[in-house]
Amino acid sequence: MIAVVGGGQLARMMAPAAGELGVRLRALVEAPDGSAAQVLTDTRVGAASDEAAIRALIAPDDEDAAAVLTFEHEHVPNALLQDLLEHGTPVHPGPDALVHAQDKIIMRTRLTELGLPCPRWVPVPTDPDAARSVIADFLAGERDGEAVAKTSRGGYDGKGVRVISSSDDVADWIEAAASGAPPLLVEEKVPFTRELAALVARRPSGEVRTWPVVESIQRDGVCSEVIAPAPGISAELEERAEQIARDVATGLGVTGVLAVELFEYLDPATGEPAVSVNELAMRPHNSGHWTIDGAVTSQFEQHLRAVLDLPLGSTDPVAPWTVMANVLGSSLTELTDALPALMERFPEARVNLYGKGIRAGRKLGHVNVSGSDLDTVRERALAAAALLRGE
Ligand SMILES: Nc1ncnc2c1ncn2[C@@H]1O[C@H](COP(=O)(O)OP(=O)(O)O)[C@@H](O)[C@H]1O
Ligand SMILES: [Mg+2]
Repeated sequence: MIAVVGGGQLARMMAPAAGELGVRLRALVEAPDGSAAQVLTDTRVGAASDEAAIRALIAPDDEDAAAVLTFEHEHVPNALLQDLLEHGTPVHPGPDALVHAQDKIIMRTRLTELGLPCPRWVPVPTDPDAARSVIADFLAGERDGEAVAKTSRGGYDGKGVRVISSSDDVADWIEAAASGAPPLLVEEKVPFTRELAALVARRPSGEVRTWPVVESIQRDGVCSEVIAPAPGISAELEERAEQIARDVATGLGVTGVLAVELFEYLDPATGEPAVSVNELAMRPHNSGHWTIDGAVTSQFEQHLRAVLDLPLGSTDPVAPWTVMANVLGSSLTELTDALPALMERFPEARVNLYGKGIRAGRKLGHVNVSGSDLDTVRERALAAAALLRGE
């Protein structure tokens, strides 16, 4: 039995893998009719911050106790996880690793210590006057007088990230941080040529496996498309990105799946492509949904193998190209209304709908298409996703 915190699409997509491996999942879900609860038979309703709910989920004194606790998101109180670990429940990823996916200041500090490449950055003090002065100094040194401000905790899908040219652009965040909200950091606005992601899994006994590095395309800070492998990437840059992912996984002691979001940019010194780390996710990640249909072992199965300390599966791709297109919002009243036309036109498309209520911009599902011609694969994946958006 694996206990999972979270009831969204990531927990939902663990279910088929668990079924195939004969492993039972019990999830702590936010709502009884949410994405994961629709497909899992064993769910408890409660908040990820609710200590009693997490303890009941693991049920340590039950004969049905969970062998391990894992997550589909980072928003779980770290002190509680430390306590569970000390009292004998395996937690994967462990709290000492997970904190680097919870807090961008801790993550930047540690990666810098490990010698891994990051954008230039500084932590912003919580005192408002000091904050304004640190931000002004940082901006003064930046090209175009722009930088990126981030909240250190709690952000996702671009919420908590702002391009700024003055501290006035984050006056609300400075005020919030002064009254106890998570502190801010500012970073250089990386003139990236594209965004990449390096996905890796590590099991407690140390085995590590990487999937091919992918290109991820975001719209309004939200992932909209992933191309696997990253088109035109050199063998050197691919190896460099995979090595960074292995170094992060090993250096931070990550267990389970880790996604390392990367910026690819041209190194001004050499004119050659280089990469730096944007952020980390310690769980299956949107940049890895292509693996469900495009790799021998999906990230969801690999996560379950890793947290159970089972040998990891092959990460080889099963086709030259796989493109994942997200369905972000829809003008339909039911996404399934699009299925007849989609299935007629795109019989090769692998559709994955999350059972979520339709809201503008919300991640409602994705489509994977694999094949040998990238342009065709991409065009067809995007067109199939557009049908689901009602276009
Ligand atoms: N330093 C930066 N320079 C340029 N763009 C950035 C920078 N940081 C973030 N972004 C853009 O904003 C997106 C979301 O930022 P990220 O830190 O990944 O936040 P989230 O936790 O919301 O995913 C990134 O995928 C990238 O497109
Ligand atoms: Mg991100």
